[in-house]
Amino acid sequence: MKKKIKIAPSILASNFSILGEEITAISKAGADYIHFDIMDGHFVPNLTFGPDTVKFLRKYTKKVFDVHLMIKPVDKFIIPFIKAGADIISFHPETVKNANKTISLIKSYKKKVGLVLNPNINENKIYPYLSKIDLILVMSVYPGFGGQKFINSQLKKIERINKKIEKEKLTIDLEVDGGVNFNNAKKIINAGANVLVAGTSCFKGGKRFYKKNILSLKKTK
Ligand code: DX5
Ligand code: ZN
Repeated sequence: MKKKIKIAPSILASNFSILGEEITAISKAGADYIHFDIMDGHFVPNLTFGPDTVKFLRKYTKKVFDVHLMIKPVDKFIIPFIKAGADIISFHPETVKNANKTISLIKSYKKKVGLVLNPNINENKIYPYLSKIDLILVMSVYPGFGGQKFINSQLKKIERINKKIEKEKLTIDLEVDGGVNFNNAKKIINAGANVLVAGTSCFKGGKRFYKKNILSLKKTK
């Protein structure tokens, strides 16, 4: 069964001086998720937002808050992000001692959990957890900054993971993050992704273009 294509704008590319307004505008423009790239300047070379920012932005939209943790350690921040309003929490398995424990903690609060694969990490790393997770996030750039170029080798990885999900008849979202744009979105969707994270492409041109940007990414015809 064809999964609905969802767009998750990354606020990393939004105007930080008016974050609340940006969240309201991109939500009205048709975003399915709001993607928060949480970076600690340790696991990745950049520093972005914490639970308090997420908490203050919660009141600007009802959309799903899709929180991508590029931090280490992870466990002590799970509850603060859940209390701040996160609906989905995704983390990189190499940032935790015991992925099962972290997954159980997130699920104990009835939130969705995702595992994240950097371009150099093989998908086999997360296969032991497939029955416990709701989302797989394939990084198509090395995390840290928006506006990077999509790493084409990840298309084959997306195809392999999609085949595995279909073979095991799992209901898992396959999300792709990094360098997604109007020119490559169709081939990423055709490879099997059903959630596209996009910062630069969604926020390009300012508010009056947001709806068109989102629709252009979803277009597969
Ligand atoms: C990791 C970040 C970026 C961001 C998307 O660096 O996760 O991938 O969300 O950035 P764009 O869409 O501008 O490539
Ligand atoms: Zn991300």
